[in-house]
Amino acid sequence: MLRTVQATRYVSPLREGGSVPALVEADDLGLYVVKLSGAAQGTKALVAEIVVGELARALATAVPELGMLVPEIVLVELPRDLSVAEPDPEIQEHLAASAGLNVGLDFLPRALPYAPATGPQPDPELAAAIVWLDALCENVDRTPRNPNLLTWHERVWLIDHGAARYRQHAGLDPARARGRFAAIRDHVLLPRAASIAEADARLAPLVTERLVREVVGLVPEPWLDGPAAELHVEDLLARLRAPREFVEEAEDARTA
Ligand SMILES: Nc1ncnc2c1ncn2[C@@H]1O[C@H](COP(=O)(O)OP(=O)(O)O)[C@@H](O)[C@H]1O
Ligand SMILES: [Mg+2]
Repeated sequence: MLRTVQATRYVSPLREGGSVPALVEADDLGLYVVKLSGAAQGTKALVAEIVVGELARALATAVPELGMLVPEIVLVELPRDLSVAEPDPEIQEHLAASAGLNVGLDFLPRALPYAPATGPQPDPELAAAIVWLDALCENVDRTPRNPNLLTWHERVWLIDHGAARYRQHAGLDPARARGRFAAIRDHVLLPRAASIAEADARLAPLVTERLVREVVGLVPEPWLDGPAAELHVEDLLARLRAPREFVEEAEDARTA
């Protein structure tokens, strides 16, 4: 179960990427980056945040020496009247449309955007693990222009999985789950990554059917009802079945 907190104060919008998440304070006195259910990307983006973020966390827990880091994910209950101080009418509208449940990420204060050329770099094994996870989950949003990695306390943190599992927007079809994912060529960590095949040998056995069901099961029912959840599970399991073409594809991109 994900924790649920109540938003008590709207602090500001965060304008780096496309979805303009809200920085809010909650009743546990924490600050959260809230991905809004009423934003243009819709609730499917929130499904991807939970499924991919929690898969990453499960790998991080299972292989602690990798050093994979993901901020805590919580559900954030937004009251209807939270947005009174926000002057931007579009954000007002998104906040009003997001009353009720949303997804929050623990806010990492003063984190910097990851820079491939300067600043702390992930180990090659960690870079390979992140590439592997993004290839599995078809995350199109880890490019040099838009890495969605933060540097905080000298380490690299994974954020923003809203654009992963992008095939869900056209309707998932497990029969097409094993298709190519050419976008892996543009992954920001590919030049740093160790062998993707070795990452696969280490990580794939950890992503069991049970784990897939567990992370999909964390998504609140209004965003993913029973049949839709089953489709997500079947689709991910189809992608995980050996031989995993996405591993070869990522390895080819790395060594090209
Ligand atoms: N947990 C976090 N801690 C600190 N800053 C964050 C966090 N999550 C997101 N941000 C900041 O907000 C920006 C937008 O968030 P992101 O999740 O990437 O949404 P999107 O790209 O869809 O707008 C990020 O690029 C980053 O600068
Ligand atoms: Mg982003």
